[in-house]
Amino acid sequence: MKPGYQKYIPFQPQPIRGRTWPDKVITKAPIWCSVDLRDGNQALVDPMNLQEKLEYFHTLIDIGVKEIEIGFPSASETEYEICRELIEGGHIPDDVTIQVLVQAREHLIKKTFEAIQGAKHVIFHFYNSTSTLQRKVVFHTDVEGVKKIAVDAAELIYELSQDAIAAGMDLRYEYSPESFMGTEMDAAVEICQAVVEAIHATPEKKIILNLPTTVENCMPNQFADMLEYFIRKLPSRDCAIISLHPHNDRGTGVATTEMGLLAGAERVEATLFGNGERTGNVDMVTLAMNMYTQGVDPKLDFSDINRIKNMYERCTKMPVGDRQPYVGKLVFTAFSGSHQDAINKGTQYMKSSGTEYWEIPYLPIDPADVGREYEPIIRINSQSGKGGAAYIMDHDFGYELPKAMHPEFGAIVQKESDRVGKEIPAQQIYELFHKEYIEANEPYKLLKHSFQETIDEEGHSHVAFQGTLQHTDTTFTVSGEGNGPIDAFFNAIKGEKISRFTFLDYRSHAITDGSDSQGVAYILLQDQRTGRLYWGVGVSHNINLAPLRAILSAVNRAKRDR
Ligand code: KIV
Ligand code: ZN
Repeated sequence: MKPGYQKYIPFQPQPIRGRTWPDKVITKAPIWCSVDLRDGNQALVDPMNLQEKLEYFHTLIDIGVKEIEIGFPSASETEYEICRELIEGGHIPDDVTIQVLVQAREHLIKKTFEAIQGAKHVIFHFYNSTSTLQRKVVFHTDVEGVKKIAVDAAELIYELSQDAIAAGMDLRYEYSPESFMGTEMDAAVEICQAVVEAIHATPEKKIILNLPTTVENCMPNQFADMLEYFIRKLPSRDCAIISLHPHNDRGTGVATTEMGLLAGAERVEATLFGNGERTGNVDMVTLAMNMYTQGVDPKLDFSDINRIKNMYERCTKMPVGDRQPYVGKLVFTAFSGSHQDAINKGTQYMKSSGTEYWEIPYLPIDPADVGREYEPIIRINSQSGKGGAAYIMDHDFGYELPKAMHPEFGAIVQKESDRVGKEIPAQQIYELFHKEYIEANEPYKLLKHSFQETIDEEGHSHVAFQGTLQHTDTTFTVSGEGNGPIDAFFNAIKGEKISRFTFLDYRSHAITDGSDSQGVAYILLQDQRTGRLYWGVGVSHNINLAPLRAILSAVNRAKRDR
């Protein structure tokens, strides 16, 4: 880059001794407040209309958000009307509090009180900017000047709210020293303390002190230091709920929020998928799901993430990125072969061990927890490893291929992927499997057969097999005996030309549930002349027939090879 960096003033870290936040962990969900309908909406090229806002509002309620900033009712007629519709249209459940934002200016405060009439639970959120830069270039005032703006507003709001409270409204207050992160911490404490007093906050009736990173300008650990310092210094800490409102200018909104929670914050203002001014507000979904994957109940329901994504895209007319955590189209897809192998092994481990924990490498979360399907987890391309195709066969079609068979089938799929030069979808993998193994019925085919089983007085079984085989155009009969159907069949064909094989391995399992259940058998034979190994697969409703078909499948594949 051309030099230019010299014009930026580096952030000055807050000196703090004995910081405690790095030793903490997040153990419970914060109070969530959605600012989608205000901060998110104001940042849209095409802001939401009434219908869209209502749909969005109801989705937030379904998710379980209990505090929702519905807008800026004094800013425009549309915003005012939407606030009235929410209240008069009976859209607000009794356990949900609406929040309205207003600048610390008298006429706007009065208009906002008009807008909230008749609401049951309201957070009256007022703000003014307090940062060094804004004091210098926008307001041309000092700390006393911005403190006076905040305190005057607090006194007016307190006074105007008394009638509404007397009439039964559950009204709480929220104050934001906008651009908190650019304010000297001692000044931020002084201003916030003055507001706490002016609004008569008590430990029983706390004020929400919302400390925004209006423009994210420092590292998350530096923000946590500032916050810990602020909280320690605030004289009326017990009269305040400390709230965060992170933006994402440095791309670290989530980390800032998480470290802010460690530093003592109790509440978070966020938006779905991080919509909001510039690079957005912090993403509520990522925050909540990050907690979820650490064994903490986020108290929000994202179990049908696609529904929420669809609503979001419809209402905001903005796409959710393919790599957006927990929701993007590709976030449950493994392209790398080694990742696919590990996922496959993790899935098998979970099945065989019966573990109660999620222990699958490369998948930080069970896709099913957010309503996503396993189907798109693995795509097979020429870079995929041997386990990927086997994984698809297991997960999508119920075929649990023996481990020793994975390399053989993986190579078949990779060859096809190389040939066509693109990914092989799951259905095509199945078709390849079918063609390669199950349809391997040339030149040998079993036309008809019968078994006769006798059990001797010691309980040993003796099976006699008799059958008619076809080899290209000729048919011939074979018979043999053994201690089971496979043994008897294998002995029956031993005398024939197909005899030059050694039987090495056999597995079988059911592939469908219920009475129409099918069995699949996998047989491994070794060609004695070449030493090469061949898997064969047979499927049948009859458990005795599937392995016979599997033997012939292996034999036919060997013949085809020659
Ligand atoms: O980002 C911000 O500072 C805001 C305030 C109004 C809370 O949105
Ligand atoms: Zn904001």
